Amino acid sequence: MIKANYPVNKLKEIQTPFYYYDLDVLRSTLQEINEQTANLNFQVHYAMKANVNPSVLKTIMEAGLGADCVSGGEVQAAIDAGIPASKVVFAGVGKADWEINLGLDNDIFCFNVESIPELEVINELAGAKNKKASVALRINPNVSAHTHHYITTGLNENKFGINMSELDKVTDLIKTLPNIHLVGIHFHIGSQITDMSSFQALCVRINELQEYFENRGIKLKHINVGGGLGINYEHPNHFPIPDFESYFKVFSHHLSLHDDQTLHFELGRSVVAQCGSLISKVLYVKEGTSKKFAILDAGFTELIRPALYQAYHRIENLSSDLPEEKYDVVGPICESSDTFAKDYSMNGTKRGDIIALRSAGAYGEIMASQYNLRKLPKAYTSDELK
Ligand code: LLP
Repeated sequence: MIKANYPVNKLKEIQTPFYYYDLDVLRSTLQEINEQTANLNFQVHYAMKANVNPSVLKTIMEAGLGADCVSGGEVQAAIDAGIPASKVVFAGVGKADWEINLGLDNDIFCFNVESIPELEVINELAGAKNKKASVALRINPNVSAHTHHYITTGLNENKFGINMSELDKVTDLIKTLPNIHLVGIHFHIGSQITDMSSFQALCVRINELQEYFENRGIKLKHINVGGGLGINYEHPNHFPIPDFESYFKVFSHHLSLHDDQTLHFELGRSVVAQCGSLISKVLYVKEGTSKKFAILDAGFTELIRPALYQAYHRIENLSSDLPEEKYDVVGPICESSDTFAKDYSMNGTKRGDIIALRSAGAYGEIMASQYNLRKLPKAYTSDELK
């Protein structure tokens, strides 16, 4: 089994469980994004929901990415991290008044608006401040993302965005709203998408919609295609950096952009997933009737993805070179769903071994909970442990 290069001796000294971020992997990922989008009218916003660890965020800010936020808390965190408000987009089906006001007060780049009542409220709140809010309409393109149904967002049955059948109504309404400035359209079809044809289908739909807006005399300065690029959870050592080249090429080849239009992306998982690991210790190895359980000191409180989405995370025993055996790798939480993997082959395991749950940089730390009154774990970076 090929294992990543961890500072194992240093990791052994630290109280587990904790998150470990390899900032060199993150920097290489960001460099690849910047190289692939150089000289193009492309602006990448980091989807803050994936991870807001301060060191991670600082590294992303330094690479010049904007921010995609879905709450007032995220808007504030982006601004506090030094990401310019002019690069902040704010999405979400349920923005509260205070959150909209926060966006207005900071003159964020754009609100991604998901419904008619939201448009009316933004118009009213902007009016009260004598401001004009820049908005992009989040349109539900009814394009399948071919991913887990919990992380599919662009189908008619999903709660997100404005349905295409409502567009006449919405564009007519916008003409009557004095404090709304329509700057673009926005989409997001889902997450962990590895089939590029889904993004291609999105491009086809956007080209049709561009025609629709042009026919109505509406000029759109910005097209935002959301996020969703998937990563390789099976082989993080072989594919530490997602295939940004193919991803961005789909859009340059299939989307008919005008020269004065900017294309925006909201990437979360693909930016941060592979730089992070959840590091845990084996508390006990328990012999069941027909199987062995490796019981870790980390559970779904630290990494909920396997329990919530049946997600696969690669698991490595960093302390063992013994021949592989099969284990059910489980956490200490009092629920059967607190299982990271079943019948999982890893090097022979004993109490005290250090385990890395890989690809945990996205939707790991940020989704941690204190269920069972557990403490929220700390995080360390490769820079600190060098
Ligand atoms: N933009 C919007 C409007 C979104 O809703 C999302 C993710 C993103 C961008 C970023 O998507 P990404 O590039 O990360 O795929 N907790 C789940 C993922 C939920 C994604 C929600 N929206 C998981 O652990 O798989």
